[in-house]
Amino acid sequence: MATWSAPGKVFLFGEHAVVFGKPGIAMAIKPRVYVTVRKARNPARVNSPYIESCFEEMGVTGSVYIHSQLPSSSGLGSSAAVTVATLFAINDEFNLKYDRNQLASMAYKIEKKVQHGRASPTDTYVSTFGGLVLIKDNKRRRMPPENFNIVIGNTLVSHKTTELVAMVSEFRKNNPLVVDPILDAIEAVTTRSMHNFHNLKVLGRYMDVNHALLEALGVGHPMLSRLVSASRAAGAYGAKMTGAGGGGCMIALCPKRSKSKVAGAIEAADGRAIITTIDTEGARKE
Ligand code: MEV
Repeated sequence: MATWSAPGKVFLFGEHAVVFGKPGIAMAIKPRVYVTVRKARNPARVNSPYIESCFEEMGVTGSVYIHSQLPSSSGLGSSAAVTVATLFAINDEFNLKYDRNQLASMAYKIEKKVQHGRASPTDTYVSTFGGLVLIKDNKRRRMPPENFNIVIGNTLVSHKTTELVAMVSEFRKNNPLVVDPILDAIEAVTTRSMHNFHNLKVLGRYMDVNHALLEALGVGHPMLSRLVSASRAAGAYGAKMTGAGGGGCMIALCPKRSKSKVAGAIEAADGRAIITTIDTEGARKE
C-alpha cells in the first residue's frame, strides 16, 4: 500500500495571459489531495476519469482511496492534484521507478486527454514540484519561496476553464486592438510584482490591478467582485480572482493579523474561506 499527497495551486498573477505566452506566477497551497493505492487484481470501480487514466497509462491495476482537502471545479487545481498524487502512489506501490519530471509530464498528458485537448501545464507542474513557480516563455521554473499570507474565497459558483479560455481567445481574435493592451498590462503587473515581493502593499495593489484587467477580459463574476470587495474592506493588501474566473475562487493577500478578519468577511459575503500559505513540497510520500 502506498499513500502520496499533492497540493493545490493558486495563480498570484498572470492567469489567462499565460495562455498567450505572457509570464505568470503560481503558488502551491497547503490544502492537499491524499491518494492511497494498493495492488489488486480486480480494481475497485472509481468514479474518476483521471484516476482510471492514471492506471491505464501506468499499465497496472489496483484499488484506490482518495481524501481531498481541495474543493473540486473551483480553480484550485484539484484534478491535477488527484492525478499527480495517484501517479506517484502507483509509481511507488508498483516500484515503477519513474522520476519526478517524468511523472509531471505524464500527469499533464492525462489531464489533456481527460479534458479533451486543453489542460493547464501549470497545475500539474505546481502540484508536482510545489513552491512558488514562474511561468515564462511557456516554461515553468521554481523561484525562492515567499511566506505570503493568503486567504482563498470560494464563490461556490462552478466554472469551466476550457470555456473561459476559449471565450478570451475569441474575444482577442475579434478585438486584438482592445485585448492585446490588456494582456500587455497583465504582463507588466506580473513582471513588476517580482520586484516587490517584500513590499506587500504594492503587491496587493498589483493584485487589485490584475483583478480589474481580468474583469476587462470578461472573466469576472458578481460573486468574485463581492468577495474581493469584502476582503479589501476587511484589511487585505489586495485581492483578485485566481484561475480561470467566471466563478471559482479569489485570493486575498493579507497582513498576518488580518487573516481571520478577512476570512470572516468572505464567509459573511456567502463565500467559503480557506486561510493558507505556500506549500513548498509538491508531491509527497505520506
Ligand atoms: C487556469 O487555472 C489558468 C488559465 O490561465 C489557464 C492556464 O493557465 O492553462 C486560465
